[in-house]
Formats: sequence, structure tokens, C-alpha cells
Amino acid sequence: MRFKTDVKKIKTLSIPPDFDVRKLPQLWRCGPEFIQSLRSEMLDFILEQTPKHPEYKYLSVDSRTHMLFTDVYPNIPGWHCDDFYRTKAYSDQPDLDHLEAEANSIHYMLLIGDASRTEFLVDDIELPSAREVLEHHGTHKPIYYHYDELIEKAQPKTFHLEDRTLYRFGPHCFHRGQAATKNGWRYFIRLTFSNHYEPQNELRYQTQVYTRDRVSW
Ligand SMILES: [Fe+2]
Repeated sequence: MRFKTDVKKIKTLSIPPDFDVRKLPQLWRCGPEFIQSLRSEMLDFILEQTPKHPEYKYLSVDSRTHMLFTDVYPNIPGWHCDDFYRTKAYSDQPDLDHLEAEANSIHYMLLIGDASRTEFLVDDIELPSAREVLEHHGTHKPIYYHYDELIEKAQPKTFHLEDRTLYRFGPHCFHRGQAATKNGWRYFIRLTFSNHYEPQNELRYQTQVYTRDRVSW
């Protein structure tokens, strides 16, 4: 199955280099009206700069603020898609085979801070379908564990997102978080247009970090 690498740079946003991301709330599936009610100039600006997609019913926005130390990850390490589509037929694992037909989406993503710049593939990639992965490996491990191994083996060409730059990508576009290359603040925000990822309007007050190795003073 061919996985489309459709990541596209939209534009660099004029965000001052000394902008303090600690001022921004952490959103979990928040809709545009809810975000406007938070009265954040920066969030209003990001919303306004994001292209509109009236062909989709919902816009849901997720964001996270991290104070990163070198070598920790702001998200689970490993190649994955932002699929948001799990079905019983796939044992509650991502159903990547019916994703475009049943639950398509368009994501926009922006990073403020360059300590951990998400890595994307450069080209489309040929990989087994989700059904084939499940049939071959079973369900002991999450499906992305296997995709991560397969992509690592393939050693495809990759690039890292630039910070303060808005990108667009689809639900089949593989990417992975990066260990922080230095200490620093990072704000991640992703705006998702879809017909199924309905806003829940929750704020989050905690954030996880992840490591692969021993971290010490
Ligand atoms: Fe992701």
C-alpha cells in the first residue's frame, strides 16, 4: 500500500523570537468559538492564518507546551500517522486501510521553538496495509511499533519542520517526534479539519515527556 507523503509548507508566521509560549493554553480538541473565548491574541492569529475548509464539518485544535531538556521527547518516539480512526474490525488499532474513505482529515501544524523539530518523510512510501500488519504480527504491540521498524529499515529520505512555520499534511503522512537537541520551550499546535473529530473543548494542565534512555543530571 502506498502511503502518501503530502506534507506541504504553507507559510512562515511572523511570531516574535522572544514570544513566551508559557502564555498559551494547552488545548484538547477545541473548536474555534471556544478558542476565541480564551482571548489569546496568538491563538486568534494562528486561527486566522490557517486556510479554511468549509467542506469539512469540524475544526478541532490540539496543542501542548513543553519545557524540554536535551534528549527527552515531547511525544511518543516513532513513526506514525495522525490518523484519529480506530475501529473494532482492526482491534481498536488505527484502520489505515479505510481512513481516507471513512474518516479523512486535513491537519495543519505549527511549532514555536526549535528544540525538537518533528521529522517527516520526503517521498511517498510503500508499506504493508494495516490489515497485513495485523495478520502478520497480531495485536500484542501497537500497529505503529511495526510501522516504525519497517520505516527505520527502509531508511527513507526525511526532513525536519522549521519552527514558526505552518505546514499542512494528511492522515497517511508518516512523521515522528524528535528528542530535544537542546534545552528549550516548545509549543505544538495542530488544527484538524474533518467530519468525525468533533471538538470537545477541553483544556489540559499537564504534559508528558518520553525518553528512550537513562536521563540524568
Ligand atoms: Fe503525530
